Amino acid sequence: MAPLASERMLSRTIGRVGVLRLATRALATRVPIVGGNWKCNPKSAAELPELIANINSCDTSGCEVYVCPSPLHVALVQGKLTNGAVVAPQNCNFTGCGAYTGEMAVEQMKSMGISWVLIGHSERRGEFGLPTPAESSALLATKCKHAYENGFKVIYAIGEPLPVREKGISAVVAHCVEQLKPFKEMTLLDPDKIVLAYEPVWSIGTGVTASPKQAQETHAAIRAWLAKEVGKDTADRMRIQYGGSANAKNAPELSACPDVDGFLVGGASLKAEFKDIVSAVAKAKGQKRPMSKGV
Ligand code: 13P
Repeated sequence: MAPLASERMLSRTIGRVGVLRLATRALATRVPIVGGNWKCNPKSAAELPELIANINSCDTSGCEVYVCPSPLHVALVQGKLTNGAVVAPQNCNFTGCGAYTGEMAVEQMKSMGISWVLIGHSERRGEFGLPTPAESSALLATKCKHAYENGFKVIYAIGEPLPVREKGISAVVAHCVEQLKPFKEMTLLDPDKIVLAYEPVWSIGTGVTASPKQAQETHAAIRAWLAKEVGKDTADRMRIQYGGSANAKNAPELSACPDVDGFLVGGASLKAEFKDIVSAVAKAKGQKRPMSKGV
């Protein structure tokens, strides 16, 4: 590929080795990523055009964007995004097509041109009123492996319930580490394939956002664990989104946290302010998304 004019100029100024060093450093920078999780909304498909317009109004030049429509609406959204944002369904199974009533297979998504999927949301782990945990981390690792085998990228949601948060940061980190361990054991923590979404359960849909201090401390601790257990390069490149009552108002302050690499947004992703969340993190991280690397 022919070098850009700016690269030619740089090359003359600091020589080839200097350019390579700069390129390596640029690649190591984490491109921010924001997802809109519509959960079991909207009630009517007639409301979709407005929600799709919200996503299409996002400036994706400095931030990757994905949207998680409800299963019934995935096919109605796929193909309607015009700005590089992508559809990431809210769940997948771990076996593929067959006699699995009520399930969604990545093989089916792939045939629709979809290549991202969200797994592990606390609302599927049984944190919202189910009498038993519905999805264990071990099951989710199996899903992730199957998704990778089909060429998918995965958003993996983790996070602690309130009683764990009340015990302090060590308990919080231990809880998140337990959710990550099966992924480590199955060597799934590849920053080119997975994005972690830290979503403290107590902040989801409650209007109680984690403070920037809490978010930064937790994200940094997860990254430190990755560095120790998987490797420094993995830790440096792994993107960790924050999720839980994120909105246009609190996004700038949370985006300023060095270890917060974007957001997984619920309620506010159903509103026009979603694009402002995308802009806030793009501005805070201040780098252009590499054009060659689609979401
Ligand atoms: P809220 O932004 O509505 O709190 O939801 C967060 C979430 O669960 C995103 O997956």
